[in-house]
Amino acid sequence: MTTKVIINDVGPRDGLQNQSITLSPANRVELIKALIVAGVGQVEVGSFVSPKAVPAMADTDIVLKNLADSPGEFSVLVPNMKGYELAVAAGASCVAMVLYGTDGMARANVNMSRADAERAMEQILQAAAIDGVRVLATIAVSWECPFDGPVAKDTVADITRRFLGLGANQVVLADSIGAANPQQVRELTTMLVNEHGAQNLACHFHDTRAMGLANVFASLESGIRSFDASIGGLGGCPFAPGASGNVATEDVVMMLEQMGYDTGIDLQGLMNASALAGRLTNNAPGGRAKRWLEGHLIKKKEQMAHVHN
Ligand code: COA
Ligand code: ZN
Repeated sequence: MTTKVIINDVGPRDGLQNQSITLSPANRVELIKALIVAGVGQVEVGSFVSPKAVPAMADTDIVLKNLADSPGEFSVLVPNMKGYELAVAAGASCVAMVLYGTDGMARANVNMSRADAERAMEQILQAAAIDGVRVLATIAVSWECPFDGPVAKDTVADITRRFLGLGANQVVLADSIGAANPQQVRELTTMLVNEHGAQNLACHFHDTRAMGLANVFASLESGIRSFDASIGGLGGCPFAPGASGNVATEDVVMMLEQMGYDTGIDLQGLMNASALAGRLTNNAPGGRAKRWLEGHLIKKKEQMAHVHN
């Protein structure tokens, strides 16, 4: 039996929030539906944040409504209780709330101290338990912060322990600026998998220093089986200077499938979604394997046509 790996495509949130072009809700839905067609089972479809802070994520309620009949798990990012309430009012059944490895990142992102942000997230968890809403808890800057520097493993371990204990369905370790190296990723993920098992842990990498795939591999070796990635490598964080796009979904899926893991995702469908992301944003670099993948898929199509003729 092949081992399953879950991919959560965060392009429609982490990717689109950072574009100079603001996509219409209809175009955002088109991109999300292309991901669903490719077999992506989990998508972060937007966020309920201040539209003044992140104009590109306004109208996430409309995006959610248009996905009501689509298969898959759709999460939305919420930075505070107000965001949570708006998300639930719009019908969200899964929220991604944000914790921070440092004070500096918490202040830059939500204008709160790390401790205040944690208190707000605790209240969200309590409300979510009553509302029956699933909660993913992302720990931003789990390895390094653009403001406060390196983050101690024990800090991230403490936050993880506390929030899994409080009932978060999953803790997502995020290298928000793409600064971590595979050695550091191995150390933190091994430590946390030893303590909690891999079931409720996931990783989120950016490819700023070209270590995105290596970091996926390092955490895979620690037992992590759930990853965020972004279609076309879209992304970056407007509040974390120096961050570039997430590791591209098509690169991660290609690597995992070649290694014999089952993602349930069709690469041709993913390349179609990636091309759409490129057309819509004019700013989706595509994965590092883009050229090879395009050539490979054309060859495969020709071979299939040959077999059928
Ligand atoms: N959604 C929509 N509007 C919100 C909101 C939310 N989740 N939270 C607050 N607001 C509104 C307030 O109602 C207020 O509106 P007003 O100016 O019309 O009165 C305004 O935003 C400012 O509220 P305040 O509580 O003073 O917040 P702030 O100015 O300190 O900003 C955040 C805090 C959290 C709203 C803002 O920093 C934010 O949205 N950050 C999101 C960052 C992000 O998305 N990062 C990337 C993902 S990690
Ligand atoms: Zn990110």
